[in-house]
Amino acid sequence: MTDTLKKLYETNDLGREELVYLLENLTTEDKPVLIRYAHETRLKYYGPKVFMRGLVEFSNYCKQDCLYCGLRASNKEVIRYRLTKEEIISSCQEGYALGYRTFVLQSGEDYTYTEQILIDIIRGVKQLFPDAALTLSIGERDFEVYKNLYEAGADRFLLRHETASKELYKTLHPTMSYENRMKCLKMLKEIGYQVGAGFMVGLPGQTAVHLAEDLIFLKEFHPHMIGIGPFIPHSETPLKDEKGGTVEDTVVLVALARLLVPDALIPATTAMGSLHPRGRELALEAGANVVMPNLTPVQYRDKYELYENKICLNDEPAHCQGCIERRINSVGLQVDMGRGDHLNNPVRK
Ligand code: 5AD
Ligand code: FES
Repeated sequence: MTDTLKKLYETNDLGREELVYLLENLTTEDKPVLIRYAHETRLKYYGPKVFMRGLVEFSNYCKQDCLYCGLRASNKEVIRYRLTKEEIISSCQEGYALGYRTFVLQSGEDYTYTEQILIDIIRGVKQLFPDAALTLSIGERDFEVYKNLYEAGADRFLLRHETASKELYKTLHPTMSYENRMKCLKMLKEIGYQVGAGFMVGLPGQTAVHLAEDLIFLKEFHPHMIGIGPFIPHSETPLKDEKGGTVEDTVVLVALARLLVPDALIPATTAMGSLHPRGRELALEAGANVVMPNLTPVQYRDKYELYENKICLNDEPAHCQGCIERRINSVGLQVDMGRGDHLNNPVRK
């Protein structure tokens, strides 16, 4: 194993068989070595900096029905909400005053926000905060819509691939298609967005082979951002009795993603922090270099429940700001409040 890890560190590459072998045979002695290599790699590319993004969860309506997600259309227990343009802007305003220079606007797949409404929101945010980057995380749309949102000023787009296994994708997403997911990711990149892909760890039926496929997909697609989090079962979904992912396994996948895609921006996800009190710190130590504190108005927070026991439900942005800064410093890293663009930030077309 020592040789395999060394090869991964030195070449940022491993074959499919080697990845499966690694995932199946990594011992407790190997893990700190892997984590140290991932940490070194992050230092080499981005230094000790951790980039902050302010997250605004602006609608929890969703037309899709993903088996794992608490916001799935079939979950009738959710109290649904939508933020107005003014509420979205004032959430960004609060973040801007705290120093944030990236805003992530995230929602379920909610077509009530038409192309025109989204353009209006993007222009509104960009006009007020021209020095901030704007990231969308709103699911699947047509090429023309993606293009027009980019032209309106959106800089980045998060669309996790969720799983690179076509079969597994199918069982988990009854209302969606694997082919369209992949097509959307390619379109976003072609348009010029900095693109985020990613997946969950510990999905029911997911094996080391599936996870190796996820890593190979990331290596080939080379996204600018990679979101990896543990799957956490939600009691109002069909997967309520499943086991879910662990922090320990997710840390390994974060480290592997860092080594295979060394220049990626990788968040220490909220799901990590929700499963373990030091979950985000563990991800940061394993090569993650982004955190995404929540700027959503507190009265809506508990309604954006992808999974249960989400952290920061009652914490005002200013509180999270201090909390997260202490956590970042506690593992020897530094907060960076800049836009935090990817190293090869594509020039806007
Ligand atoms: N547990 C963990 N992550 C989840 N997501 C959705 N539902 C869950 C869950 N139950 C993730 C998906 C989605 C992202 C916004 O949240 O990967 O892309
Ligand atoms: Fe929100 Fe710690 S990051 S309370």
